[in-house]
This record gives sequence, structure tokens and C-alpha cells, in this order.
Amino acid sequence: MRNLEVRIRRKPATAGDFEVVPGEIPRLSNGGILCRARWLAVDPFTCVPSAAGTRSSTGPQPGDVVPALGVCEVLESRHDVFAVGQHVVLECGMREICVSDGHHACALHPGQAPASTALGLLGPSGMAAYFGLIDLAGLRAGEMVLVSAAASVAGAMAGQVTRIKGARAVGIGSSREKCDWATRHARFSACIDHHSENLSNRLKQQAPRGFDIYFDNSGGELLEAVLSGHHLAPGGRVILNSVRQDDAADLLRRAGYAPGEVTVLRVNAADYEHRRGEFLKDAIAWYGADRLVCREDVAQGLENAPAHLIKAMRGENFGRPLIRL
Ligand SMILES: NC(=O)c1ccc[n+]([C@@H]2O[C@H](COP(=O)([O-])OP(=O)(O)OC[C@H]3O[C@@H](n4cnc5c(N)ncnc54)[C@H](OP(=O)(O)O)[C@@H]3O)[C@@H](O)[C@H]2O)c1
Repeated sequence: MRNLEVRIRRKPATAGDFEVVPGEIPRLSNGGILCRARWLAVDPFTCVPSAAGTRSSTGPQPGDVVPALGVCEVLESRHDVFAVGQHVVLECGMREICVSDGHHACALHPGQAPASTALGLLGPSGMAAYFGLIDLAGLRAGEMVLVSAAASVAGAMAGQVTRIKGARAVGIGSSREKCDWATRHARFSACIDHHSENLSNRLKQQAPRGFDIYFDNSGGELLEAVLSGHHLAPGGRVILNSVRQDDAADLLRRAGYAPGEVTVLRVNAADYEHRRGEFLKDAIAWYGADRLVCREDVAQGLENAPAHLIKAMRGENFGRPLIRL
């Protein structure tokens, strides 16, 4: 049995800054599971969390395996709950074989089919959009919702939840192709390509009185443009879903919003772990009824992981970037 793994050589800028090398086969101890990864999520920000503009001050160092959430098959078990042959979702790192004590692992739900959905629409990205809009923003029928990175998994989920709840979603994307997909498939009423269109004019056109909610997947310049352009209606809510550590309160102040006129909240899917069942019940039913779609951008095998990571880090992915093993 081999155990290829993807390690960080230096702060990633090109595929050569990662290496795919054989690792040791981890030893199984009592209470644990030994698993083989079948799907791995490519989350580029987790490779460089200590980079400027991101939330965490610590993160993986050169020599570390790239962190990754995976869907894995249990090969051997000394665990009370997880059995051989079962599929589990866990932080396994970008490697073929891993062990876990099962603490932060959860069984793949039968409704998470295909299994890759557990890393996308029916996983943390979908959950952040669901709870961000329904719980934090208190989304109501008839409201106007603006969503950046509309073709990303979290963006597409936000657009579709908005529509399901009887509100209207306008997306922002970085290309015509992504925007066309968002309106044709993810049920956005409109989508603005911020590279080729005048964002502020188009936002005013779509919501002359402002948006009730801005679900922000991008942070940075887009967040600043939406806030400084006064595209939020009084009573508006901004839900921050990007790992960037933008100071939205400061942006609001500088844009001249009155205190309390707009609320800024940050969503973190991990804070809703205890309500995962509630999310899955709704999301699996919607998915089964073809009311939810998302795109996947799949690379085959760990050998192709470095190029896929770089593509995602540049935002050039079109769909949830995943590695199939
Ligand atoms: N709060 C949470 O718990 C939680 C959980 C999961 C994900 N998230 C966040 O949700 C956002 C979307 O994640 P996802 O899983 O839906 O991702 P995804 O499907 O892989 O899509 C990522 C998209 O984000 C956009 N983007 C904006 N700024 C970017 C940048 N600096 N580098 C790369 N891409 C950038 C790009 O779309 P455009 O080309 O259209 O700009 C890119 O295609 C991310 O910010 C992620 O960190 C948060």
C-alpha cells in the first residue's frame, strides 16, 4: 500500500511550490479508523492562512501536508461507531491514506449522493450560505439579496436558497461564462460581470433602493465597492463569508452609513455543526427535487493536485475544485 501526499515546499505561487511525495502509512491505534480518501476538497486559502489579508495568524508551514476535507472509505476500524466499508467526511489532509480518532469525523449521509456533494453544496460551503442567510441575516420573502462569487458553491447555494425563500437574488461574477451559469442554472435573476460591466451602475439599476442583504464571498475590493457605493438599503445586513479579514465596520463608517443603519455579521459553518441535521434535511430534499445545482471542477489523482490548487488560488476554477482518487 502506498500513501502519496501533497506537501507545501514554500509559500505557494506556482504548482512547483508543492510536492507530491510518498508518505508513511499511518499506524492505527485503539479507538481509531484507517481510511482511504476517495474525494478531497481543494480549499486554496487553507494553504496560506497566514498570508496577508486572511483570518488566521497560524497555518501550515513548508513541509506540512496541505490541509483538506475529504470523503474517505474506512479500511480498518477499532472505533465503536465507524465500520469497515463506511464512508466518512473528515479533515484528512491531502493524502491517500489517513488515520483519525473519529472525533471530528461524520458519516456520509445517504442523501449526500454523489459523495462529492458532501464537500460542496451539501457540505460546509452550502451550510455557510444556508445559515448565513436564514439564521444570521433572517432572510424574508420579497427581499433583495446580492451575492458575490455567484458561481462558487457558497454563491450558488446562496442564490438558490434566496429563490426558494421567495426573495430575489442578484449575483456578481468574474466572467460572462460564470454569470451566464449563475442566471441559467443557479436561479439568479441577474448576474453582473464585474470585469466587463460598470458594477455600481448595474447595482443601482437592479436595486434602486438598495439591497437588503449582501452575502459576501469575496471580500477585498468587491466588498469595498458595494459598501462605499451605498448599495445597501437601510436595515441591510452584510454577511461576511470570505476568509479575508476585511474591516467591514470601518468600511461602513468611511462610507458614511449612520451607526446601526447596516449590520455586519460573519458566518462560520463550524459554529452550526450542532444544526447540521436541520441543514441536511432541507438541502437534501431541495437537491433531490432538482431545486439546487452546483458545478464541480474535478481533477483526477493527487499528481494533478498542485496545478488544481494553483488554479483555485487564482480564482480560475469554475465549480467546486475537487480531487477524485
Ligand atoms: N464561512 C465558512 O464557514 C465557509 C465555509 C466554506 C467556504 N467559505 C468561503 O466561501 C467562499 C466561497 O467558497 P466555495 O467553497 O463556494 O468556493 P469555490 O466554489 O471553490 O469558489 C471560489 C470562488 O470564489 C471567488 N473568489 C473571490 N475571491 C477569490 C480569491 N482571492 N481567490 C480565489 N477565489 C476567489 C472566485 O469566484 P469569482 O471568479 O466569481 O470571483 C472563485 O471561483 C470562499 O471565500 C470560502 O472561503 C466559508
